[in-house]
Amino acid sequence: MKTITSIQKHKGSTPLTVITAYDALFASLFDQKVDIILVGDSLNMSFNAKPDTLSASMDVMIYHTKAVCAGAKETFIVCDMPFGTYTDEKTAIFNASRVYAQTDAHAVKIEGGVSRAPIIKALTQNSVAVMGHIGLMPQFVRSEGGYKVRGRTEEDILTLIEDARAVEKAGAFSIVIEGVVEEAAKRISEAVSIPTIGIGAGKYTDGQVLVWSDMLGFFQAFQPKFVKRYLDGAQLIQTALDAYVKEVHERSFPALEHTYQK
Ligand code: KIV
Repeated sequence: MKTITSIQKHKGSTPLTVITAYDALFASLFDQKVDIILVGDSLNMSFNAKPDTLSASMDVMIYHTKAVCAGAKETFIVCDMPFGTYTDEKTAIFNASRVYAQTDAHAVKIEGGVSRAPIIKALTQNSVAVMGHIGLMPQFVRSEGGYKVRGRTEEDILTLIEDARAVEKAGAFSIVIEGVVEEAAKRISEAVSIPTIGIGAGKYTDGQVLVWSDMLGFFQAFQPKFVKRYLDGAQLIQTALDAYVKEVHERSFPALEHTYQK
């Protein structure tokens, strides 16, 4: 099981492996296979068919984090703080304390750079371990008018480096960098001494994170450029279901070995 200290030793070394999970069943399959499991608010889209992450609530995140913790007892678990639950220091401490009180998660994740640094500082000073999240931040999708790849200009790269440094200074133990041009993510990673975990940020970060249902091919609504499908999960399920329906119709299932006899 990773700790904050062992996670930080990955800086500039073997990349950290991170995957999301939303339930106990899949979490148990991922347990000890990856360094960190993130209960991402992406569950609102991939699990709940919503158009974005904004309507995920603290109650929902706690419910799913409890399930993931029950399934993956040997893996470091991070609970995403959903939109509107860390608008100021007091609210953030109240909600992060709920995560620690009601689940076995080891840390929380907060989106935002310089502007959110005071909130991250308030949390870390109150003994909450925080993973930062900069670059393309899905919780800003409506205020920014869409999902926009960051780090295309020198000015934006400098802004992102400032964000990363502010998050580090506020006490975060690692930072997710999402949707950032590879060269920019490299410079951001070099500018901080905590591990960076990339998603759509190229290969120079100190780790990678993917949404489980994207990388295992269960989520089919769309496939972002940065997702590699390691399994065609949806196709496997369709094939299995077709076989089940066919066998039930032709009464070849249940066979003798699936049937109780006198
Ligand atoms: O919600 C999520 O799954 C995330 C990852 C994409 C980093 O924040």
